[in-house]
This record gives sequence, C-alpha cells and structure tokens, in this order.
Amino acid sequence: MLKLTYLSHSTFILDDNNYKLIIDPFITGNPTCPIQNVNDIKVDFIVLTHGHGDHLGDAFTLAKNNDALIIAVNELANYAAENGCKAHNMHIGGGYNFPFGRLKFTIAHHGSSSPDGRYMGEPAGVVLSMGNKTIYHTGDTGLFLDMKLIGEMNNIDIFLVPIGDNFTMGIDDAVKAVEFVNPGLTIPMHYNTFPIIPADPKEFQKKVEAIGKKCRVMEYGETLNF
Ligand code: NI
Ligand code: MN
Repeated sequence: MLKLTYLSHSTFILDDNNYKLIIDPFITGNPTCPIQNVNDIKVDFIVLTHGHGDHLGDAFTLAKNNDALIIAVNELANYAAENGCKAHNMHIGGGYNFPFGRLKFTIAHHGSSSPDGRYMGEPAGVVLSMGNKTIYHTGDTGLFLDMKLIGEMNNIDIFLVPIGDNFTMGIDDAVKAVEFVNPGLTIPMHYNTFPIIPADPKEFQKKVEAIGKKCRVMEYGETLNF
C-alpha cells in the first residue's frame, strides 16, 4: 500500500508504512504549502529532480534533521554532500534498488542550477516503485515524445505532471503527456503557487477525462491511499 500526500507545487510525500520519501521538498517560502515548519516533516529519503530553489527547497535541512538520504543526479548530489548531507549520486537512465523500491531518473527538458547560480547537471524526472505502485514525477519539463517510451516500458500507476505553463508544460501539453504515458491516474502539479503559473486544474481534469483517462486534483495537504 502507498499513501501519497500533496504539499502543493511539486512537493509530494510517499509513505509505504516502512519508509517515508519526499520529492522536491519546497516548504519554506512556499505560499501554498500547508506545513510551514520544516521541522514537522519526518522522512527517510529525499528525491530531487533539479536544483532550482522551488525544488531543492528545504532538502538540506530535512536531510540533516532526519539523517535522510538525498537521491539526485551526480552534480546535484555532490552539491548536497558538500553541504553536509548524505547523498546517493545517480544519473539519467540509471536505476537503483533502494530499500523502498526501484528508482530511475528520466530526461526532462528544463534547466538546473542551484539558488547560488551553480550548474547542477541535467534536470530530471523520476520513475519510482514504492508500496506496489509505480509513480512517474516528471520534474519541471516541457513535453517530449520519449514520454511515450517511458509509458511503454513502465506500467505507470500515478503520473505527476506540471500544468502551470511558463516554466513547464501548460494544460494542453500536459494532456498530450497523459496520452503518451497512459497512466492509471494523473495528478496535476506545479500550478497556482505563484501568479506567473496560474492554471485551472479542473479544466485539466476535464480534458484528461475527455481522452478517457482518470485525473484527480489533490488539495494542498491532502493524502490519498493506494
Ligand atoms: Ni525548475
Ligand atoms: Mn519549478
């Protein structure tokens, strides 16, 4: 079984009752996050898709508070280690079997620098298995045709896809991404956090349902059980 909690933006907590894993922990300075004190969050693993401030977020504080392992592409993982965190270096196309399950980084079309402007390697998406479910979190990305391949080679149960436009896919591109990935359930992310990424998730949901796929708009702080 898997519990999935949405903290807004691209931040999700996955809990299989043995391990807790957070993806792109943007808590401090996130106006939409229902948890404002990062010390209230307990996790074992931290997965980072790229180095931008709204994804790296509170990763270092969380890693140190919880003695948690940061999982990221090589350059970003090195940066985490330099900052005193435990890190597991990976890269795009490579998978690894962690205690919670298998995790593999995918391509993403975006940038990746740290908040202080350093090159953080390539941005990534992530396909991971946990609690008998396979999740694809695209990270920040534009639409790309290889999503079709990711959908063919993985049985994606839960697809976490950005819809906020400007920095990532907007609604119509994200609907095409759903068609490519063919997941069991799609959940939109990376919208309405800031005025520059406005989107109506209900419009997205309607368009996804119109192509015969399931979509669920999660409230900030909501938990779904799978
Ligand atoms: Ni970004
Ligand atoms: Mn972002």
